[in-house]
Amino acid sequence: MSRNRVPPGSDEEPDATPNQPSRRRFLQSAAAAATVGVAPHVRAQTQPAASLPSAPPAETRAPEPPRPVTLSVNGRAYTLQLEPRVTLLDALREYAGLMGTKKGCDRGQCGACTVLIEGRRINSCLTLAVMHEGEAITTVEGLAGNGVLSPVQRAFIEHDAFQCGYCTPGQICSATALLSEFNSGTASTVTADVRMRPPQLSDDEIRERMSGNICRCGAYANIVAAVRSVQGGNSGNA
Ligand code: FES
Ligand code: FES
Repeated sequence: MSRNRVPPGSDEEPDATPNQPSRRRFLQSAAAAATVGVAPHVRAQTQPAASLPSAPPAETRAPEPPRPVTLSVNGRAYTLQLEPRVTLLDALREYAGLMGTKKGCDRGQCGACTVLIEGRRINSCLTLAVMHEGEAITTVEGLAGNGVLSPVQRAFIEHDAFQCGYCTPGQICSATALLSEFNSGTASTVTADVRMRPPQLSDDEIRERMSGNICRCGAYANIVAAVRSVQGGNSGNA
């Protein structure tokens, strides 16, 4: 069988016949059909945003103005002009001028901002100052009395329980509350026998109960030793 002749300059393939389209024409037809098939999808993607349902406008509220807030810190009353959104940590540091409490993460992860409220430890970066009017707040500045360091403060010095010292105010406040909690019988997740009398403050107990206080210098071994020594003398309360 003879093959069809292709005129010079034509893009026709040599095997095209009147009844049998060339491979190139077949591929062109298939591509056109595929384009028609996807066209609705393409149109849907390119619809103008204005035709989509729009989100309701965000509610905007004017900031609450500052108002007087009276905090009792270390036995002294501080009346501060605070917006309701001010954290206890910022109120202490920026408004009351008590810089002993440290800001590490400002999101409840490091414990550097630990203070005591009615004897219980709290991350002051996670609570608002206005929530603590009328409560007794104790910061690291308030642990020493009449120039005499508290037992926990002394133990931290004696056991060299810090390096840079940035976490230390929070560690000391936390350890102070830890000893009160332990001596009042509060169990932790690692307490083996809650009926044991007297309760045993093991190193595991101390590590667990101090686990909310991070020390980037890694002074943990000496911190545990300091807390253990205070409990051994049974004089952890400031
Ligand atoms: S500054 Fe509050 S937990 Fe880190
Ligand atoms: S002593 Fe430096 S972070 Fe703890």
